[in-house]
Amino acid sequence: MGKVTAIVNQKGGVGKTTTAINLGACFARMGERVLLIDMDGQGNMSRGLGCKVKRSQYTIRNALVDIMNGIDADPMKGIVPAKYDPLYIMPADKQLLAFERSLKNEPEAPYLLRKYVEKQQWSFDRILIDCSPSLGVLTQNALVASHSVMIPVDPEFFGVEGVEQITSTINGIQRKMNPELYLEGIVIVRRNNVSIAKRTNVENLRQRYGDKVYKTELPSSVKASEAQAHGMSLISYMSWNHLIRAYQALANEVVANEQQ
Ligand SMILES: Nc1ncnc2c1ncn2[C@@H]1O[C@H](COP(=O)(O)OP(=O)(O)OP(=O)(O)O)[C@@H](O)[C@H]1O
Ligand SMILES: [Mg+2]
Repeated sequence: MGKVTAIVNQKGGVGKTTTAINLGACFARMGERVLLIDMDGQGNMSRGLGCKVKRSQYTIRNALVDIMNGIDADPMKGIVPAKYDPLYIMPADKQLLAFERSLKNEPEAPYLLRKYVEKQQWSFDRILIDCSPSLGVLTQNALVASHSVMIPVDPEFFGVEGVEQITSTINGIQRKMNPELYLEGIVIVRRNNVSIAKRTNVENLRQRYGDKVYKTELPSSVKASEAQAHGMSLISYMSWNHLIRAYQALANEVVANEQQ
């Protein structure tokens, strides 16, 4: 059965989508069958893997609507191969935002993605869910559907307190809706290494969360956005780069933790 991990941080622009794409690409190159689910109406992950969503296309929104209406669609419906990478995407576009608003008074709302993911778990070794910068109902769906949560953190702007907000959301979901959910790990995303605030925040995070903070830190690279603009992961875009190496190290760390 596949392992499901949500990539979550309510702060925008910290590298959630970049991590979903590049970590997913590393796992795929390790021989795993990988599905990336875009749970962000911005659709950055879909676009970043070369998937331009057409208005009539069947996306994660349609899949969730089908589940809400009790329609048992083909599990692979809407899933597309990435343009250049050996992995699969369930795309999203801005219609997901309107759908999120419509879920407000729906008691079953938090469980929709879980029901969707349960249909996929036998077809994939690993499912990564890219979340939007919020802890709203779509992210709640991702947390209810997942085994684990990965939190990318840019310590320039986000310290222990910001992470605590996420972990208390995780604890709430764990108590009420998904007892098996656990913190997979915190990834330090370092755009540059100079600021004292940043260094202090990293130290505080390592002190507070111990070995839940990955040893691997993700360095800054202009190639990250360049590759996404070309619709591909870094490793498909170029053969070597320090950020690729870091993502490979991170993928190895995740797998090593799973084998413990
Ligand atoms: N290690 C990195 N070095 C340099 N630029 C990066 C790095 N990681 C991500 N970026 C760039 O920073 C921007 C934000 O990254 P990304 O989209 O992954 O963040 P996000 O957390 O998914 O944002 P959002 O919350 O809006 O979904 C993108 O342009 C991306 O290419
Ligand atoms: Mg994103």
